[in-house]
Amino acid sequence: MYDWNSTQKKRTFENPKNLNSILLQHKPNILVTGGTGLVGSHLLAQLGLQGHTIRAIRRSTSSLEAVKQVFSYYSDDFLALFDKIEWVEADLCDLPALTLAFEGITQVYHCAAIVSFKKSDYDAMRKTNIEGTAHMVNLSLDFQVEKFCYVSSIATLDKNPNTEVIDEQNEWNPEHNNYGYAITKYGGEMEVWRGTQEGLNVVIVNPGVILGSGFWGHNTGQFFSNAAKGFKFYTMGETGFVGVNDVAKAMIQLMASTLVNERYILVSENRSFQYVLSSIAQAIGVSIPKIKITPFWSEIAWRLAAVYSFITGKPALITKQSARASHQKFSYASQKIKDQLGFEFEPLEQTIQRTAKDFLK
Ligand SMILES: NC(=O)c1ccc[n+]([C@@H]2O[C@H](COP(=O)([O-])OP(=O)(O)OC[C@H]3O[C@@H](n4cnc5c(N)ncnc54)[C@H](OP(=O)(O)O)[C@@H]3O)[C@@H](O)[C@H]2O)c1
Repeated sequence: MYDWNSTQKKRTFENPKNLNSILLQHKPNILVTGGTGLVGSHLLAQLGLQGHTIRAIRRSTSSLEAVKQVFSYYSDDFLALFDKIEWVEADLCDLPALTLAFEGITQVYHCAAIVSFKKSDYDAMRKTNIEGTAHMVNLSLDFQVEKFCYVSSIATLDKNPNTEVIDEQNEWNPEHNNYGYAITKYGGEMEVWRGTQEGLNVVIVNPGVILGSGFWGHNTGQFFSNAAKGFKFYTMGETGFVGVNDVAKAMIQLMASTLVNERYILVSENRSFQYVLSSIAQAIGVSIPKIKITPFWSEIAWRLAAVYSFITGKPALITKQSARASHQKFSYASQKIKDQLGFEFEPLEQTIQRTAKDFLK
């Protein structure tokens, strides 16, 4: 059986000798959304290794290859692990299909969302991240789900420049110049809090920037693939970072606990982008980024990227929001989950070393 405590410090995700023998032969009672993404796929692997039977939704366009790759980082017998997941085709916005996925479900992990800094994705983000979450909450109430875990983000916390360290008490501030993704994650969180008023037991996690194996061409996976391509630039912005293994592990532990109707920041360490990008470069054996990008040059870069994107029709590598976010400096506290759950985060350096090892495979 998988033992977190004995393996946590070593990192190894021990493969059970005979996976079939530990997987229970009954219908899934856990529903996972976003299982074809970074957080959801690591969560599926960890739940599967603990012997849970799980149903996961996927879209008709979703790729399952990256999920298998993530599973291969956890188990040599990854195909057997993969085969134990019941995949149901449903979009968060397709209520009839989503309803079918809830049959027999007692626990829900809602990870699916559109993660984007692009202005043009705003309407789609509102639909998926807010309306889709409302569907998940309503169905959980209809099906009398026992507990619901929602993956929010540190983007929903108030970033008051006068706050030294942001914690769960730093409520969303509508007066700030909030960007599209943050607005829609906050809207999703509001739907989940509304669910608590109607009787749903929830836990919410607010992870920082998530680093983890797989999905190398996407979101933070690009920190690794770009470093390998010789990316030379860095900024001096600072934020909270966390490993995807810890995000999945914290979610599972919160769901197994008696804690309800609380939210928890998940940040292992607050670091600068320079530190993280340099550590990644060193871990994969390439030279560290040496060209510092100032806010002035970022402002020029996102405008040039927008023009290039308009002319070529290709997505811009940098947007106004991502450019500005890369210079902001914020620190986050994860003391609440440490105190209430005794949770220990993996040091960021260890996360980077392990992820780099998987990348080099
Ligand atoms: N990555 C981070 O650094 C970070 C930080 C803080 C919080 N978060 C939150 O963590 C969660 C997971 O993020 P991630 O990094 O794993 O993102 P990801 O890799 O982009 O995965 C997103 C997942 O959501 C699914 N999805 C998107 N729209 C959907 C829809 N309309 N219906 C059904 N499924 C849909 C995607 O399915 P397809 O495979 O079909 O596209 C995919 O499985 C999100 O809620 C995000 O807001 C992420």
